Amino acid sequence: MVTGAVFADLGNDVIGVDIDQNRVDTLNSGGCPIHEPRLPELLKHNLREGRLTFTTSIPEAVLKSEIIFVCVGTPPVEDGGTNLSQVEAAATGIARALNSYKIIVNKSTVPVGTGDFVREVIEKNGVASTDFDVVCNPEFLREGQAVRDTLQPDRIVIGSASEKAAKIVQLLYQALNAPCIITDTQSAELIKYASNAFLATKISFINAVANLCEKTQADIREVAKGVGADSRIGPAFLGAGLGYGGSCFPKDIDALLQASRKLGAEISILEAVRAENDNRVPRFVQRIIDRLGATSRLPLEGKTIGVLGLSFKPDTDDMREAKSIEICHALREAGAELRVYDPIATENARRIIGDEGIEYCQSPYVAAKGASGIVIVTEWRDFIQLNLNRLKTEMVEPIIFDGRNIYSPEQVTDAGFEYFSIGKTPAKP
Ligand code: UGA
Repeated sequence: MVTGAVFADLGNDVIGVDIDQNRVDTLNSGGCPIHEPRLPELLKHNLREGRLTFTTSIPEAVLKSEIIFVCVGTPPVEDGGTNLSQVEAAATGIARALNSYKIIVNKSTVPVGTGDFVREVIEKNGVASTDFDVVCNPEFLREGQAVRDTLQPDRIVIGSASEKAAKIVQLLYQALNAPCIITDTQSAELIKYASNAFLATKISFINAVANLCEKTQADIREVAKGVGADSRIGPAFLGAGLGYGGSCFPKDIDALLQASRKLGAEISILEAVRAENDNRVPRFVQRIIDRLGATSRLPLEGKTIGVLGLSFKPDTDDMREAKSIEICHALREAGAELRVYDPIATENARRIIGDEGIEYCQSPYVAAKGASGIVIVTEWRDFIQLNLNRLKTEMVEPIIFDGRNIYSPEQVTDAGFEYFSIGKTPAKP
């Protein structure tokens, strides 16, 4: 949706295809099925201008197009590998409709070698190799800032065996004035995985250092600031917290590990990255239990805890691999009653986390009612501006467990709270 809307906004005619009729109807009537800042306006504007339409018909879209982007899901299979059935189905549909030379661009995150796989699928459906080219053009946008990332990318990566196809795709991006890396298909495929894996490594690294900070008088915020000031390292993705979630990093790290192992070149550092990430929530929940719990089978029985933030990150309603799922289950298992709040992900969260022992609230203050602790799980901007005095009056015990380090210890202790954050010893009022 984001790629299509941005290409339309740059003046191209774009036809979006999805197998879900409801989604297509929503989009054609000017709606937007996900929460993504700036996207609804962009979709509406280009729909009105007649540059953007949606259909469930692959042939209709293929016949009218010169360039076809494949942006389907590539979910994990049990051993961590990648399920390419949606890529295969899209390639088959395209092949059956192909009427003249077209460029097929893989935007989905796919294992090295998938470009060749797509080529084989299309040829198997009777299309001559001279009638199409395959290009890999990986996606680097982040949810929550997808439109911004697409309009102002750090780089565009285009991988293809065909110089002609790569140049045509490059022209599409010309107006963005971004650095363009033209390379072979397999390198482009691996650039995507290696980028996500490196970012995840930065996160797990800083989280491991945060664990050490908690055993000393050091403060991870200061450490990250000092480390990130080195231009060879950079400050981005050094935010210690509850670890990475979402639909990309966990899946992509597993896929890269599995693929590298299969090829006899295991990237074993990623085992440690994953292990550190898997340990974030259990470690955080243990700190909550150590502070609030009794030494019984259900250490948090009789306690109410407020949970702020349910989506996997701010500015999205996406609950995939959200840390809130694991945290809510662990706190419930320890016997706590939960009062939870999220600015927009509540309905998606309810479907996944369920209702038992959980009250979904209309505001952070309502979630704080009768609570012995507030747990910050997602760093929504709204929470940074909370009226801490008002929050405190709602609570039974004024304790904040900040899983994303959104507050400064002084700010919270001055307001009369005990404060547990990541990578720092607890602070008292
Ligand atoms: C990620 C990449 O950042 C994008 O470049 C990529 O295109 C996308 O995956 C993808 O493969 O499709 P996304 O998952 O939307 O984007 O979100 P991020 O902003 O990268 O955050 C991922 C996770 O890391 C979140 O759970 C976030 O809370 C966590 N994170 C991020 C930290 O714990 N600390 C940080 O400093 C930064």
